[in-house]
Amino acid sequence: FGTMKINEVGTLEVGGCSTVALAEEYGTPLYVMDEALIRENCRKYKNAFVMEGVDTQVIYASKAFLNMAMCALIREEGLGLDVVSGGELFTAMKAGFPMNSVYFHGNNKTEDELVMALEYGVGTVIVDNPHELQLLDDLAKEKKRKINILFRVNPGIEAHTHAFIQTAHHDSKFGESIYDRKIYDMLAFALASEYLQMQGFHCHIGSQIFDEKSFYGAAKVMIAFLQQVKEVTGYETAVLNIGGGFGVYYADGDEPVDVEVCLPNMLEMITMDCIEAGIRVPKVMIEPGRAIVGNAGCTLYKTGAVKDTYGGKKYVFVNGGMTDNPRTALYDAVYEAVIANKMKDTDKEKVTVAGKCCESGDILIHHIELPKVQRGDLLCVASTGAYNYTMASNYNRIPKPAVVLVKDGRARLIVKRETYDDIIRNDLAY
Ligand code: LLP
Repeated sequence: FGTMKINEVGTLEVGGCSTVALAEEYGTPLYVMDEALIRENCRKYKNAFVMEGVDTQVIYASKAFLNMAMCALIREEGLGLDVVSGGELFTAMKAGFPMNSVYFHGNNKTEDELVMALEYGVGTVIVDNPHELQLLDDLAKEKKRKINILFRVNPGIEAHTHAFIQTAHHDSKFGESIYDRKIYDMLAFALASEYLQMQGFHCHIGSQIFDEKSFYGAAKVMIAFLQQVKEVTGYETAVLNIGGGFGVYYADGDEPVDVEVCLPNMLEMITMDCIEAGIRVPKVMIEPGRAIVGNAGCTLYKTGAVKDTYGGKKYVFVNGGMTDNPRTALYDAVYEAVIANKMKDTDKEKVTVAGKCCESGDILIHHIELPKVQRGDLLCVASTGAYNYTMASNYNRIPKPAVVLVKDGRARLIVKRETYDDIIRNDLAY
C-alpha cells in the first residue's frame, strides 16, 4: 500500500524508512502511519466530491484515528472534522483545529460535552433526539451562544458489506427514523429556537461498505425525505450529510468502491433528484474515516515463541495483540501480514498469529502463510491505520504503543509509547 516497498536486503520499507530501523529506534509494537498516503486519500475524496454549482464538504471521521498531529494534517488538507466525544473535541481544540469546521456527533452527548461545544464555538452539533435538542437549547440560551444544528436521522437503510437491505425495523440507537412523527415536532422546536440554527439532516448507513448502491440508495431516500419535509412544513434543507462508511481493502475479496466514480455519481444523482423533487440542492457532505487512514497504517510487532499445539496448530506469538488491535476479536476482522525482515523468503508455512493477552480470543490473524518465523523477527500487519490506535486498551496493564508518521525516508514520533509509569499514573495509594 502507498509507499510500501521491499528493499535490496529483503526488508519492508514504508515511507522510505526501513521497518527494521523503525522497530530498533522506536521499539515494538509500533503503529506506523504513511503520511503521503493519508494526504493522498484526503485529496482523492476532496477532489472527487465536487460538482459545479453544488456546495460540498468532506469531513474526516476522527474516531478512525486521532491525535494532535492528525488534526494538523487534516487541517492542512482542508477537510472538516467529525468528533463524537469531549475527548476528541478537546484534542481538536488543543491542536488549534478551526472550530467552525468541527461537527459534533453522538447519541448521548453529556451536558458537559454540550457546554464544551458551546464554549469552544463548535460549528455544528448533530442532534440525536428530542431530549438532546431541548438540553442543547437550554444550554445555548444560558450561554447566549448560537449554534448550527443538523438532525441525525435514520433512513431505514442498513448497509451490509456487499448489499443493502431496507430494514422494516427502525430500531437503531442513532437518530430518529425519517418515518417518525417526532422529527416534525423536533423541526418545529428548532425553527422556533432563537439560539439553534437548523441547517439540515445527517445520516450514516454503516461502515466498511463496498456496494456503491448503498450510498445511492441512502441519498435517494434522503432526498425523498427532504421533499416531504418541505411539503409538510415548508422548511428547505440547507445541508445534507450522507455520513461515512466507504470500505477499504484488508484482505482478498475486499473490493472498495472507486470513489472517483461513486462520489461524482452520487452528487449528480442528488442534484437530479432535488430538481425533480422541486427542492433547492443542499450543501452535500460526507465523512469518511476508515477510507482516509485504514490502508495508511501498519503495525510492527516482534515475534516471540512459536508453538506447535498437540492438536496440530502452529502459533506465532507477538508482543502485542488485542490491546493494540481488538478488531479480530471483536468483528472477526481479517488482516494480511508479512515478516518484514524476510520479505524474500519463499518457504512458507501456515500459522495463527496470537497476542500476549490472557485471553484465548486474543488472536490477530487466524490463518496466514508466513516464512518460517524465529524469535525476534518483525511481523508487520497491514491496514491497521483505522480503529486500531483509537480502540487500543490497557487490558492486562499493557502500555499502548507509540505512533510514528513516516514520509520521504524520515520518521516523526507523533504519539509517545506509554510507560509503566503511565499505567499507574492515576492510581492512588491505599
Ligand atoms: N460518521 C458517523 C456518524 C459514524 O458513525 C462513522 C463510523 C463514520 C462517519 C465513519 O465511518 P467510516 O468511514 O470510518 O466507515 N470500530 C468499527 C467501526 C465503527 C464505525 C462507527 N461509525 C471498526 O473497527 O470496524
